[in-house]
Amino acid sequence: MRSHYCGLIGEAEIGRRVALCGWADARRDHGGVVFIDLRDHEGIVQVVADPDDAAVFATASKVGYEDCLRVTGTVRVRSNVNEKIPTGRFEVVAESIEMLNAARDLPFALHENPNEEMRLKYRYLDLRRPEMQKLMRTRIKLVQALRRWLDTRGFQDIETPILTKATPEGARDYLVPSRVHAGQFYALPQSPQLFKQLLMIAGFDRYYQIARCFRDEDLRADRQPEFTQLDMEFAFVEEHDVQDCVEALIRDVFREVGSIELPDPFPRMTWAEAMRRYGSDKPDLRISLELVDVGDALKHVEFKVFADAANDPDGRVVALRVPGGADLSRKQIDDLSAYAAKFGARGLGWLKIDDLAAGREGVKSPLAKLFDDAALAEILELASARSGDALLFGAGKWTTVSTFMGALRLKVAQNRGLVAQGWKPLWVTDFPMFEYDEAGQRHVALHHPFTAPKVDDAAALAADPAHAVSRGYDMVLNGAEIGGGSIRIHRPEMQSAVFRLLGIGEDEARAKFGFLLDALKMGAPPHGGIAFGIDRLAMLIGGTDAIRDVIAFPKTTSAQDLMTDAPSAIDAEQLAELHVQVRGPGTGDRGRGERDSGLGTRDSG
Ligand code: AMO
Repeated sequence: MRSHYCGLIGEAEIGRRVALCGWADARRDHGGVVFIDLRDHEGIVQVVADPDDAAVFATASKVGYEDCLRVTGTVRVRSNVNEKIPTGRFEVVAESIEMLNAARDLPFALHENPNEEMRLKYRYLDLRRPEMQKLMRTRIKLVQALRRWLDTRGFQDIETPILTKATPEGARDYLVPSRVHAGQFYALPQSPQLFKQLLMIAGFDRYYQIARCFRDEDLRADRQPEFTQLDMEFAFVEEHDVQDCVEALIRDVFREVGSIELPDPFPRMTWAEAMRRYGSDKPDLRISLELVDVGDALKHVEFKVFADAANDPDGRVVALRVPGGADLSRKQIDDLSAYAAKFGARGLGWLKIDDLAAGREGVKSPLAKLFDDAALAEILELASARSGDALLFGAGKWTTVSTFMGALRLKVAQNRGLVAQGWKPLWVTDFPMFEYDEAGQRHVALHHPFTAPKVDDAAALAADPAHAVSRGYDMVLNGAEIGGGSIRIHRPEMQSAVFRLLGIGEDEARAKFGFLLDALKMGAPPHGGIAFGIDRLAMLIGGTDAIRDVIAFPKTTSAQDLMTDAPSAIDAEQLAELHVQVRGPGTGDRGRGERDSGLGTRDSG
């Protein structure tokens, strides 16, 4: 049907007859000559229809926007060069134009900026847009590069089941009712975690998979209910073996696919340091602002909120310097305060420094009168404040303060243009093993329940779970968690001990993970691994901040597919076959705590 791609017409084709297929990107009628911009996935070339050829001219005159065409003709040099497109020096003089299919009732023009809902409803049109073609190609190249790298280094690509049993990663499961086994359900995998561990026990040594994962969780700009991981597992390894290998992989692939140079080696930071300095377990190191502890200076001040937090062993008082922030308006400060409240802040203190040398006289703040001179001077010094700056303060429980001040750090940096250009990867290591869930009154795993603790002694772990550190690690790039992994528990006693600490009783552990506990008894090797979010890697390389832009058919933030209209109702017959009775909207809506079986891990991503 075709001899060449539109976007690849070049010098070599001059004077040659070509057959092209594609879409009419535009039609221009100029003084009796019709020009059609014909577009395929490689790009655009100009087609000319001369009035001398009456039949061709008549068809060309009727061509509509986005009509699907086949054009034959001869390539010649263009008189008016278009520097904007790679084929801009050439054109095709049409000898025939065949209307393969007309385009009618387009909901939007591809050149307009269509709204998100229309883009998702008519995704096939949205994907015709060159920006989307480019992003999808970046993703395709990324996956090819990852596979090539791994295939040549002894990693074995093995598929694991989609209809399976729950694999806890911190989200709810998507469930599939069984027709054959009334009242029983498969779960779609939140990750291939357990299967990849079983593959190590089975002796495959190095595994990878480009794996689809399903998580019913709150969606955000970088989260989808189904997404793709590069999932990897290694037998007989320690942290550095995994980290060194995948660091090289990521560096090579970013260079190949995005011409992006990442540092060698990546810096490392413990979780505790990341939380202390950046208030985040995925710090964006493009921003140089840091949180500064000022509690020691405030233990005796009159302001109770600060003094209490400063004297509480689990408390924290933090200052964030806003360079040049003395110009913040009351409204801007209120907005920042409202923003911090979303992350748990009960209030936000502020202090503006008009003239540092003038001491108390040089600062403006409702707090200043509550600080004695020594405390004020010490805070200014600790925060390295300069004239013209502002300081923002948070006080309260350590984790809460760290989290909202970390969120504020990002917000302030974005608002004030303080995010530097470039690429800042890092490893975050030494995560706590558990997090205490106040609402559920229990420990939850920070990575997942199969991550090994640093102490290789179940009794020692049980004695002080609150301070236990795990062998988990995350790879972070420009503030996005792109990968997470760990060294796994490979002995059944330790796995049972961790289940117990998570409040999973013997019977429940057997019912849910009996197969794993059995396998760990049969000579399971020490092993570990990691999984990368392919969608997030594609977003970063492609330079978009919406995960939907790198997924061909994504879902909305309420997990709907606007094009196919999924999820949708099922007819009564099918429901009966599946032994499912629907209670009607609303009636089944119970709180998460009731649904959770204690298997939780921290919400991922
Ligand atoms: P984790 O839950 O950290 O680890 O997931 C690994 C990586 O997958 C990406 N990711 C997501 N991307 C898009 N949408 C989502 N909803 C989403 N959730 C996670 C992130 C994340 O870093 N089994 C472990 C890995 C292991 O221990 O080897 C796991 O799944 O980039």
